[in-house]
Amino acid sequence: MARTRRPLIAGNWKMNGLKADGMALAKAVADGVKQAGWTDREVLICPPATLVMAIADAARGTGVLVGGQDCHAKASGAHTGETSAEMLRDAGASHVIVGHSERRTDCGETDATIRAKAEAAWRAGLTPIVCIGETLVEREAGRTMAVLETQLKGSVPTGATAATLVVAYEPVWAIGTGKTPTTPEVAAAHAHIRRVLGGLLAEANGVRLLYGGSVKGANAAELLAAGDVDGALVGGASLKADEFLAIAKAA
Ligand code: PGA
Repeated sequence: MARTRRPLIAGNWKMNGLKADGMALAKAVADGVKQAGWTDREVLICPPATLVMAIADAARGTGVLVGGQDCHAKASGAHTGETSAEMLRDAGASHVIVGHSERRTDCGETDATIRAKAEAAWRAGLTPIVCIGETLVEREAGRTMAVLETQLKGSVPTGATAATLVVAYEPVWAIGTGKTPTTPEVAAAHAHIRRVLGGLLAEANGVRLLYGGSVKGANAAELLAAGDVDGALVGGASLKADEFLAIAKAA
């Protein structure tokens, strides 16, 4: 397995975490990461926007990276309630998740919206984690590979490099359900993603591809060992420090 790509374990807290609990969770993760002293993997937490600054301040020097869960495509302006990539960067973020399936569903985000957000992330100096994945209906119709290809071609901006892009494969039916694809299914999807990326950018071999969807301590080693899997995007299990650290350990 290629291990020139440093594994990235990213926690997506979604709309969870008030200040006291969030700070305690971030501290527990940071303590664990510091203690482990990993230099061969990266650990990222993506708290709600309200906590990005406080957690980024607290995490500085611990080895834990902090990211946003979404950003607006514009840098500033009359967009009530939105957060720009520049604001996340200013708050201490290094990454931002774009195109999570919950945003595609809840907010009607299209591949074009997501591409614009990924470009906004670059403009602000953030690394976008572009999420793609098929629904259960699409999988059962045998359309998984076609869906992934369409999403990649529509949402990955031109000019992406290994250093400026992370892709997360998250089958929609595996998110928060406790269900996961089999290891060969994950490997097949990731190999396909890397092939499609190969047609879009020169450094496709260096781009990190994360698997996401019901990753937990108990299944992390198996999922992370699948071919072309360079880390995980973790939802529910990232809300428990010991589970999240167990996943990071498995990387
Ligand atoms: P889950 O969520 O780990 O709770 O399935 C993953 C995600 O939505 O990123």
